[in-house]
Amino acid sequence: MLVGDLMNTKQREVCESQGLDPNRIPSHVAIIMDGNGRWAEERGESRVFGHMHGVDAVRSSVQAAMELGVRHLTLYAFSTENWSRPKEEVEALMNLLVDTLVKEMNELGNKGVRLRTIGDVGALPKNCQAQLDEAEASTESNESLDLILALSYSSKWEMVQAIKKIIDSGVSSADISAETVSEYLSTRGIPDPELMIRTSGEHRISNFLLWQLAYAEFHFTSTLWPDFGKENFFNAIRDFQNRERRFGGLLDTNHNVTVQ
Ligand code: FPP
Repeated sequence: MLVGDLMNTKQREVCESQGLDPNRIPSHVAIIMDGNGRWAEERGESRVFGHMHGVDAVRSSVQAAMELGVRHLTLYAFSTENWSRPKEEVEALMNLLVDTLVKEMNELGNKGVRLRTIGDVGALPKNCQAQLDEAEASTESNESLDLILALSYSSKWEMVQAIKKIIDSGVSSADISAETVSEYLSTRGIPDPELMIRTSGEHRISNFLLWQLAYAEFHFTSTLWPDFGKENFFNAIRDFQNRERRFGGLLDTNHNVTVQ
């Protein structure tokens, strides 16, 4: 789904000023925020310093998404594999998450942001879970932007959970379709991302939304995450708009997808 019809005048103006087609803004953008450690190392600082500056880039991307009328923004904030990092780094990341929620959620909530999470959130420290619960509950009715934090998330974990739940529900194998699987994933009810951005020059998907990204366009940039600003976000959307999306079908002469 694209968001053109739901857009307000201000969002149309921003699209115009950025040379973007308001009718082809993706409804859902997912981001692998990568390069905080390298950004810090380049400055002779600790990795945690990079994560702290990564919060500025989160703020910029949320703002840019809202300015364009993107409806869902999923950020890969902490993967299942990230638990294997040094204890001090994991603790610092959890504290940073709590501090950021405490500092920013009121303002984001007032702007219409709804906070959601995907992943094994029960594995996070209790204070983190409490803060997330509060932020999710207080923004539940907001509709401008769904900010979806992937926390203790990995796609393989999510798929194993889904398979277990499908089996436990007793549904017959004959009744299982792609829609059934989607219903059992933690992204239930959220449209699949049309665009996935990864920063820092890595060209990997790193166990992120493997099912949901089946037909997404990928934008890779060498920019390290703390340097990723609104302009970088707009560039990624521009890149997306230059792609021909065929979904395995063919394009007719008007560049519409024809389904056989
Ligand atoms: C990857 O960079 C980044 C992370 C594992 C954490 C992302 C966290 C933030 C941006 C800050 C907090 C987020 C929110 C939503 C408040 P890396 O450490 O793997 O960098 P490297 O590849 O250069 O080592």
